Amino acid sequence: MKFCAIVVLFIVLAINGCDCKIVQFIFGDSLSDVGNNKNLPRSLATANLPFYGIDFGNGLPNGRFTNGRTVSDIIGDKIGLPRPVAFLDPTMNEDVILENGVNYASGGGGILNETGGYFIQRFSLWKQIELFQGTQDVVVAKIGKKEADKFFQDARYVVALGSNDFINNYLMPVYSDSWKYNDQTFVDYLMETLESQLKMLHSLGARKLMVFGLGPMGCIPLQRALSLDGNCQNKASNLAKKFNKAATTMLLDLEAKLPNASYRFGEAYDLVNDIITNPKKYGTNKTLLKSNEAFINEISFRKIIDHSFSTQIYFFVMKKV
Ligand SMILES: *[C@@H]1O[C@H](CO)[C@@H](O)[C@H](O)[C@H]1NC(C)=O
Ligand SMILES: *[C@@H]1O[C@H](CO)[C@@H](O)[C@H](O)[C@H]1NC(C)=O
Ligand SMILES: *[C@@H]1O[C@H](CO)[C@@H](O)[C@H](O)[C@H]1NC(C)=O
Repeated sequence: MKFCAIVVLFIVLAINGCDCKIVQFIFGDSLSDVGNNKNLPRSLATANLPFYGIDFGNGLPNGRFTNGRTVSDIIGDKIGLPRPVAFLDPTMNEDVILENGVNYASGGGGILNETGGYFIQRFSLWKQIELFQGTQDVVVAKIGKKEADKFFQDARYVVALGSNDFINNYLMPVYSDSWKYNDQTFVDYLMETLESQLKMLHSLGARKLMVFGLGPMGCIPLQRALSLDGNCQNKASNLAKKFNKAATTMLLDLEAKLPNASYRFGEAYDLVNDIITNPKKYGTNKTLLKSNEAFINEISFRKIIDHSFSTQIYFFVMKKV
């Protein structure tokens, strides 16, 4: 009887192949980083200040650039998928990939290779895709080409980058892109690059993919600090709008062109803008404020707030899609 059951199990496995889960692969920047930069020894973009992580796990910094969950944590939790593990997490192996998926997001990373150069170490989107190819190789070695193809085609993909290409590149005179391009040609350059990256991901099996748009970048702490009076910088926010508009069109075109592609654009601008303009409408976490007011300087404090805002936004966006 026992032998019989084993034989049946074996046949079922042989027919269905790998009984693979649906997992996510996340490509992103600090909004989605769950610990890659923490494991990049020379990166200057790390979330190791004491208030990071205060609302997550044991309350210690865990590599996330936020007090709590990141965008990708929330997305996964909402749609009932496991939380992908940071590519550089010491526990990473084939089984972790098959069970949880992988998060390649890296603080300071951009669509362009040259973005965030002064952070010394970070994964650009091209680099993240290269790492994903490595992930595919180990999965193929483990479960075979056919099963692996299915696993990667069934998976969900998130691409959430772009702010650094402005904030830590185009808008900074130390980067050559700031004088090589104007607003329009720079957005065009980003779109061409992103399009080839999405095509590459499609060729690697990505079918269900979500691209997140940019929020009002002019309101992030760095931009506010640069404006001296602490107010948002309209130039940066207008660039975000321009990027979002171009990305929406590009994504629709691409979805129509590529076989079996199912793409979504996560529009977040108006919502974040509303949270920033009318924070009271969304409630304030008094505990969070209280636990931090003693030791956090203004700018760093805004940084957490902005990041926790961004997680809320994605939460709203996910409810819409
Ligand atoms: C960007 O970096 C990747 C490696 O991460 C490299 O393969 C690619 O050629 C670079 N692209 C450009 C345009 O420099
Ligand atoms: C598109 O989907 C169909 C049905 O699942 C499948 O047979 C076909 O191979 C897919 N094509 C590509 C290019 O993914
Ligand atoms: C507010 O923050 C505290 C910890 O600082 C946390 O325990 C609580 O769940 C948070 N509340 C909300 C509504 O996010």
